[in-house]
This record gives sequence, C-alpha cells and structure tokens, in this order.
Amino acid sequence: MKSYQVAVIPGDGIGVDVTKAAWQVLEHSAKRFDFALNGKWFPWSCEYYLEHGEMMPKNGIETLSQFNAVLLGAVGWPEKVADSVSLHGLLLPIRKQFDLYANVRPHRLLAGVEGPLRKSEFDILCIRENTEGEYSGAGGRIHQGTPAEVAVETSIFTRRGVERILRYGFEMAQKRSKRLASVTKSNAQKYTMVMWDEVTEEVARDYPDVTVNRYHIDAIAARMVMNPETLDVIVASNLFGDILTDLGAAIQGGLGYAASANLNPDPTVPSMFEPVHGSAPDIAGQGIANPVAAIWSAAMMLEHLGETTAARAILEAVETVTAQQQVNHGMKTTEITAAVIAAI
Ligand code: NAD
Ligand code: IPM
Ligand code: MN
Repeated sequence: MKSYQVAVIPGDGIGVDVTKAAWQVLEHSAKRFDFALNGKWFPWSCEYYLEHGEMMPKNGIETLSQFNAVLLGAVGWPEKVADSVSLHGLLLPIRKQFDLYANVRPHRLLAGVEGPLRKSEFDILCIRENTEGEYSGAGGRIHQGTPAEVAVETSIFTRRGVERILRYGFEMAQKRSKRLASVTKSNAQKYTMVMWDEVTEEVARDYPDVTVNRYHIDAIAARMVMNPETLDVIVASNLFGDILTDLGAAIQGGLGYAASANLNPDPTVPSMFEPVHGSAPDIAGQGIANPVAAIWSAAMMLEHLGETTAARAILEAVETVTAQQQVNHGMKTTEITAAVIAAI
C-alpha cells in the first residue's frame, strides 16, 4: 500500500475549520481507495507567534522538507499580529524556500453553484508566478514617519523565473484548449514587463500549437467578467495572479470555492496545497466557512501525489453536493463536509 507523509498546518481563523474538513475527506478517501496518509499537525499560526515570538521554529523549513506534501489552511490574525509579520514568517517562506514557483489556481463553476455573472461557462486555469516579482521583499523606508518619508518596494523578475512559469503555462495550455493569455502591464512598466513580453514571445516559439494572446492586467480583469469564455490558461506575475485569482474565486461564487496548488515539479520537494482565501476573521469561529476550496486543494494534493482516482472522486463528490444542495446558503462547514464524504 502506498503511503504519504503530509504536514498539516491549519493556521488561523477559518483555516482551522476548513483544514479539518479537508483532512476528514482525505482520511475517508485513503480508506476508500486504499492508500495511507500519515498527517502530522503543526500548530504554527499567529497564536503560536504570540506564545513563541516566531511563526514557526527556526528549523521549520527543514522539518517540512521531510514530508511528501504540505496542506495549509490560512495564515493571518491581523488584529493581533501584523500581516507583514505573520505571512512573511510562515506562508511566504514556505513558497520561497521550497521554490514552489507554479501557483496553480483553477477557476470553474461547479454544478449547481450560481456565480454573480449568471453565466454557465467559466473555466479558467490561472498560473501564478509564486517566488519573485512584486513579492521579492526587496525594499525599504527612509525618514520613516516624517513628511519626507520615502518607501521603495522593488519588483525583481529574473529571466529564469519568467521563462519557467511561462513554460509551465504553455504545458498546461497544450493539455487544455491550446490557448494561453500572458498578463503584463508593459504599457506602463518599462523593464520587468517588457522582458516578460519578450520571454513570452521566445517561449511561444517552442509551442507552435498554442495560440498566445497578451493582455494588460486591467484589460484582462474586465475580460474575465465580460467574456470569460475567450480565456483559458492565464499566466501572470505574483501580484497580478494574486488579484486575478480572487476575481476568479468571486466569479465562481465566492472565496470559498477557489483551490490552489503551490508546485515545484521536483517530487523530492514538498509542494503545498491551500485554498486561495485567507483566514476570514469576519466569520471565524462561526462554523460557516465554505470548505470546498480546501477540499478541492486536498484533491489537487492527491493528484500531485499520483492518487488520481481518489482526487477525481473527491471532485465528483463535491459537485454532487453542490448540484443538490444550497452550499452558498447557510450550510455549515461540518454539514458540507459530511455530505462530501457521503458522496465519495
Ligand atoms: P479573506 O480571504 O480571509 O476574506 C475575504 C472575504 O471572503 C471575507 O468576507 C471572508 O468572510 C470571505 N471568505 C473567505 N473564505 C471564505 C470561505 N471559505 N467561506 C466563506 N467565506 C469566505 O481575505 P482578507 O479578509 O483580506 O484576509 C484575512 C486574513 O487572511 C489576513 O490576515 C490576510 O493577510 C490573510 N490571508 C491569508 C491567506 C493565506 O494564508 N493563504 C490568503 C489570503 C489572506
Ligand atoms: C494568496 C494570499 C497571499 C498572497 C497573501 C496572504 C500573502 O493572498 O495566497 O492569495 O498574496 O500570495
Ligand atoms: Mn490572494
């Protein structure tokens, strides 16, 4: 029997509820499809920070490197710990240190879920660069707090980083509709985005069967709402991909539907799976978080680990539930989870 070691980091707020839900679904799937999942739970979170003065122990990354995958809920409790501390102390270092450069975020309307556009066709795969760009962390402030203050945050794009995320996108496009949208703001940004456009053109030559369209971030945001059927695989930088994927989630019907995989194709490195949404302090502790995004992310983890039958079964079960029940309207996290498990 195949066996996988999974590091589970529920994090903060609704991260805890949706991770518990996803794990229950995973455990059930393991039994049903005959593989073993050994989960080790790590309490790394803002609460952990308040007790220990750090979001995870110094050897946290080394600890995680022993696992086949990481399942994460959400990080952030802005009332108690600044986001700049919590995210830069846990989520972002995991992405960076394991070089999880492809943040894969599928957006599609599930059966029975009515998105705000009332359109039936919405199926987009957003490939977000996940290790550099606007999230380089390079910058600083001088004359802090004075009228003369200047703050700088530098985007760092490397040709290697841009090329590999575009290649990843082209590979995905070949498996889907053979259409790829490359996103920049090269009409306003003269260096990074112009390089991105050039690399897009170069890489495209290796994939002559894929049709490439270049869009500016503002225009593609509008297009996602107005004509989403004209889009399929979207490749975007770290920040642009971040914004587009909350928009994608909204079109799916809400933040509770959007899943994501943070991938390094190297199987010896643990990839990380987490919903697109955050810790949702506004609804934390109420038991009403939609666990679909976390459950879908868990299915993406199984897919990545090679348990494709189980991954597919989970997604089918989720859609059986969304097709029959009003997931958007008042169902509790535990009720949705139980219904998904029953449908597997
Ligand atoms: P958020 O995604 O937590 O919430 C945005 C809105 O969507 C809220 O109204 C929330 O109630 C709703 N929502 C989110 N997930 C939902 C779900 N599963 N079911 C139902 N409704 C849901 O974004 P935010 O409010 O900007 O951020 C809150 C905290 O989470 C901050 O600390 C932020 O930095 C952090 N955050 C963390 C991650 C992550 O760890 N991956 C992602 C995004 C935000
Ligand atoms: C996401 C989140 C994170 C990001 C934040 C919490 C740093 O919004 O995963 O989409 O911007 O990557
Ligand atoms: Mn985001």
